[in-house]
Amino acid sequence: MAKSGVFVCGLATILYGFLWFNPVPAEGAIRQYQFDVHVKNVSRLCHAKPIVTVNGRFPGPTIYVREGDRVHINVSNHAQYNMSIHWHGLKQYRNGWADGPAYITQCPIQTGSSYVYAFNVTGQRGTLWWHAHILWLRATVYGAIVIMPKQGTPFPFPQPEREEIILLGEWWHADVEEVVKQGNNLGLPPNMSDAHTINGKPGPLFPCSEKHTFSMEVEQGKTYLLRIINSALNDELFFAIAGHNITVVEIDAIYTKPFTTQALIIAPGQTTNVLVRANQLPGRYFMAVRPFIDVPIPIDNRTATAILQYKGIPNTVIPTLPQLPAPNDSALVLSYNKKLRSLNSPKYPANVPLKVDRNLFYTVGLGMNSCPMCVNGTRLTASLNNISFVMPQIGLLQAHYFKTKEVFRTDFPDRPPTPFNYTGAPLTANLGTAKGTRLSKIAFNSTVELVLQDTNLLTVESHPFHLHGYNFFVVGTGIGNFNPAKDPAKYNLVDPPERNTVGVPTGGWTAIRFTANNPGVWFLHCHLELHTGWGLKTAFVVEDGPGSDQTVLPPPKDLPPC
Ligand code: C2O
Repeated sequence: MAKSGVFVCGLATILYGFLWFNPVPAEGAIRQYQFDVHVKNVSRLCHAKPIVTVNGRFPGPTIYVREGDRVHINVSNHAQYNMSIHWHGLKQYRNGWADGPAYITQCPIQTGSSYVYAFNVTGQRGTLWWHAHILWLRATVYGAIVIMPKQGTPFPFPQPEREEIILLGEWWHADVEEVVKQGNNLGLPPNMSDAHTINGKPGPLFPCSEKHTFSMEVEQGKTYLLRIINSALNDELFFAIAGHNITVVEIDAIYTKPFTTQALIIAPGQTTNVLVRANQLPGRYFMAVRPFIDVPIPIDNRTATAILQYKGIPNTVIPTLPQLPAPNDSALVLSYNKKLRSLNSPKYPANVPLKVDRNLFYTVGLGMNSCPMCVNGTRLTASLNNISFVMPQIGLLQAHYFKTKEVFRTDFPDRPPTPFNYTGAPLTANLGTAKGTRLSKIAFNSTVELVLQDTNLLTVESHPFHLHGYNFFVVGTGIGNFNPAKDPAKYNLVDPPERNTVGVPTGGWTAIRFTANNPGVWFLHCHLELHTGWGLKTAFVVEDGPGSDQTVLPPPKDLPPC
């Protein structure tokens, strides 16, 4: 078993992380975790296969910290793959070195090597998560991060009886890296997953699930907090519990105005905390998860289930299934997303930038480049402003910090090369994209508005976009083409949702704002692994500020070499 220790006022208390059910940490502690990455045989759906794990666990261990803590996570790589781990949603102020995306902020940790991710948890509390950020290894290398509020600070909602982590994922029968290689060689999407999972388990609608069903015991009349994380690679998911409403209280580690709903929608990368009250007849109730997809693209549409089990009810009782929204119910998704609002209380204000220094407009599109070796002579690709991002050979943050030339360019265009009717009839000609490692340079402390516009190149589709190093405010969204003359007037600049990952709706647009106060190189990408791999990504180079505490920190000594 791996060790995790907590050091308080110089006194070391060694705790065994995975028996640590009820964390009552002190303030400003240093929390240490050991992550041993190694391959282990795991069986699901009646097949065993080797998967990459952290500490032999799937899903991986939960990181428990308190706001204000410092965290040291020593990642030792014993697997045959190069590894890097991203702490998704942690802001890493001045400290991109601990952010984790391979070739963006670091070179990967090679087999047999270690790297300590060292960072402060400041000004954030709630549910985030960690995952491998290289190849498709996050299929099995992922886990939750729970940031408790400062000691003595309650949640801005009733204290739950207990909390539970709900990690939603995808499972393939085959070796995921082989599946991806095959897809890339053909120039086609790789095979879709074979199951969805809840805490790594597909549940009883799948074969051989006796041992592979997650269940959670509740007592009638009590309220529970679920920390729901979409760690699937490619699927936006609906989640519901039979017979029980849920109340959304937090998204991406930001408190929201609570609202009650039957089902929620969550995109890869996002987290949602909900309260659920065990207020039904004691019994067994399924929690269920199934994808949302509103375009005719083949997708793994299977339903994963877990069980909400009232105390004292025998396992022989057959649980009831919730009614999940129709898989293509875009109207419901839009109306759900409209209900998301920042809490915006005096203690947790929404500091939305009201004036904008820099306006960016990025089109999101699929494309096809020539590939003589591929089946159709073409390879599917994806682009922002018609640029498919090419991964560099060394970390962009190093190149930026050490001013290494010819690793990247800072000429990523602020708008697409030619305006067109973005969401009109599908465009099926001239689908080639430009390629390049092109980034956008952003002045320190400038306020940025970025409009992400989906396009009908090949097909419209929804895209969850994630920005590293920041939260942003989702000030507006709509269907069709963004209208710069009319749409900004409809923005919510008072209590828009604040998050780190946002969906651009199918054939629509989303406008986000943030203040560029975190210097460094910060990845911006679609969190559908399929699209990221096809080049749907770029990065912001946020310049240093004038103050000595506004510059990128020096790199740690053990930063992995390339
Ligand atoms: Cu959760 Cu760059 O990713």
